[in-house]
Amino acid sequence: MWALTLLLLAVVARAAIPNLRGMLIPPKAAVPQHSFTSPNGTALPPITTVYYFDQLIDHNNADLGTFQQRYWMSWEFYEPGGPIILLTPGELDADGFQGYLANGTISGLIAQQQKGAAIVIEHRFFGYSNPYDDLTSQSLAVLTIQQAIDDLVYFTTNADLPMPGGDAVKPGQAPWILVGGSYAGALTSWTMVNQPGIFWAGYASSAVVETITDFHAYFNPIRDYMPQNCSSDVQAVIFYLDGMYAVNDTAGIQTLKEAFGLGDVEHVDDFANALVNNLYDWQSMDPDVGPGAMFFQFCDALEVKDGMNAGPGGWGLENAIYAWGNFWNTTFYNYTCGDQDVETCLGTYDTTQSYWTNTTVNNPGRSWAWMVCNQIGFYQDGPPYGQPAIVSRILKPAYGERLCVNYFPEAFSSPPEPITSETNMMYAGWNVDVDRLFFATGLRDPWREATMSAEGLYKLSTPSMPIHEGDGFHCSDLITLNGIDDPTIAAVQEAALAYMAEWLVEWEASS
Ligand SMILES: *[C@@H]1O[C@H](CO)[C@@H](O)[C@H](O)[C@H]1NC(C)=O
Ligand SMILES: *[C@@H]1O[C@H](CO)[C@@H](O)[C@H](O)[C@H]1NC(C)=O
Ligand SMILES: *[C@@H]1O[C@H](CO)[C@@H](O)[C@H](O)[C@H]1NC(C)=O
Ligand SMILES: *[C@@H]1O[C@H](CO)[C@@H](O)[C@H](O)[C@H]1NC(C)=O
Ligand SMILES: *[C@@H]1O[C@H](CO)[C@@H](O)[C@H](O)[C@H]1NC(C)=O
Ligand SMILES: *[C@@H]1O[C@H](CO)[C@@H](O)[C@H](O)[C@H]1NC(C)=O
Ligand SMILES: *[C@@H]1O[C@H](CO)[C@@H](O)[C@H](O)[C@H]1NC(C)=O
Repeated sequence: MWALTLLLLAVVARAAIPNLRGMLIPPKAAVPQHSFTSPNGTALPPITTVYYFDQLIDHNNADLGTFQQRYWMSWEFYEPGGPIILLTPGELDADGFQGYLANGTISGLIAQQQKGAAIVIEHRFFGYSNPYDDLTSQSLAVLTIQQAIDDLVYFTTNADLPMPGGDAVKPGQAPWILVGGSYAGALTSWTMVNQPGIFWAGYASSAVVETITDFHAYFNPIRDYMPQNCSSDVQAVIFYLDGMYAVNDTAGIQTLKEAFGLGDVEHVDDFANALVNNLYDWQSMDPDVGPGAMFFQFCDALEVKDGMNAGPGGWGLENAIYAWGNFWNTTFYNYTCGDQDVETCLGTYDTTQSYWTNTTVNNPGRSWAWMVCNQIGFYQDGPPYGQPAIVSRILKPAYGERLCVNYFPEAFSSPPEPITSETNMMYAGWNVDVDRLFFATGLRDPWREATMSAEGLYKLSTPSMPIHEGDGFHCSDLITLNGIDDPTIAAVQEAALAYMAEWLVEWEASS
């Protein structure tokens, strides 16, 4: 037996990257190290074997030719007649996500239960699946939601899979199931809406189906479920900062920056954005997270004084500034920036930094920024007046939109507004209504307010499109072990498996 551990993705996103820590990425599951056999005992190729599919560069213009799209696959559980389960991890290098082929994850559990084969496919412009060999604006023109949907469809209808009989399992010949979490969870929904009849069933975890430009609600679940004393003290500091900003008290702001050791951060919005990093650590939490997690280290630093915990109101502003500042000095600066100087790490105004200009492939932050700037938005910023703020109201969508110009000056001469309303119209957003799509959501997921379980949305769960919420964090239900740690997550996983069994009985070959 192999032990399954979660590799928290905070590591990927560490340092110098505005907004990236809060990217829409599913958790990695450890890649099992043992060898696999098919049901009749035949040894299978290593789970890390890379396969390549000739994918169209542009689904609107086949004449532009193809590029090599990477995928991995396992037919450990496959028996003829079983389903093909397809998953993309979404906006990052898919190498390292082979755990999603085995039963440590929901996709593997579905494969095991239904005697299916599992495939992990890399999303275009991430990792080493690139239509062109750089990430310039010109190349990225073919990075759109529609091209990503069409990639999935073209794969199902054209790939000859490397397993025995793999050339005769196209949709119609075999049932296909699309699985994804986070952005890829939304892509699952968007694909089933946009290209009906290809995937017989879907599983969408923490799926951010509704794109939202001003996504301050990202911080609501964090504000509500973090230790209340810590939330109160963070609010006190943010209120103080925003108050000084409102009256242009630059000297006061400078003193505050200095308490954090961030006196050299030139722009106040970059300072406000730096403070958000403490909150992004919430996203990488999972149900068995221990007190050592960075988020809890942060709250302990603020709330434990001389061995005593503050009450729900916290210790108050003065202590909060000192304790939060000291935490940056002793721990968090190094954790976030390492050896970099403050402006290199936290500044966003020097557009000559290689961070903005480097167009080398396998840079998920850059490719994702292209999607954010154009179609997806989700700028994580301060709330409107009248709501308690754990993030400064200095941060507005304009902060993120300015970064779009930094990255892609050839494409944007001024800060672009993403066309989120068009995206929601094209792919239905919260109005999705398709058969056999299972939505899994998490109560403590910071992305919850863009999912089918968003506050106030009251989407009805139905037998043909069930919505099941557990107490988990972001995409917790994708990982088998999280069901063992939290029975509410186990219930989500069990419900999904039951639906898959029922839905697959209904499938009939059509060609
Ligand atoms: C075992 O299954 C593989 C396909 O996985 C097939 O190629 C092979 O012929 C089978 N062997 C036997 C003995 O059934
Ligand atoms: C998961 O799959 C492995 C084979 O890869 C099998 O030995 C194990 O029993 C399965 N675990 C469960 C819980 O079914
Ligand atoms: C106060 O903060 C501590 C340390 O983070 C935490 O363990 C405790 O639950 C919090 N108490 C309240 C009432 O918020
Ligand atoms: C804010 O204060 C700075 C320095 O004191 C000054 O240069 C700037 O013009 C002021 N801005 C506004 C909007 O009052
Ligand atoms: C953090 O370090 C800076 C620079 O050394 C210092 O000015 C500041 O007082 C320190 N803050 C705390 C709370 O110790
Ligand atoms: C900074 O972090 C690195 C890696 O975690 C660690 O090795 C190093 O000792 C830290 N430096 C300081 C000054 O804390
Ligand atoms: C550009 O990015 C690539 C890949 O991340 C990296 O290997 C290379 O060193 C970077 N080049 C510069 C000039 O920063």
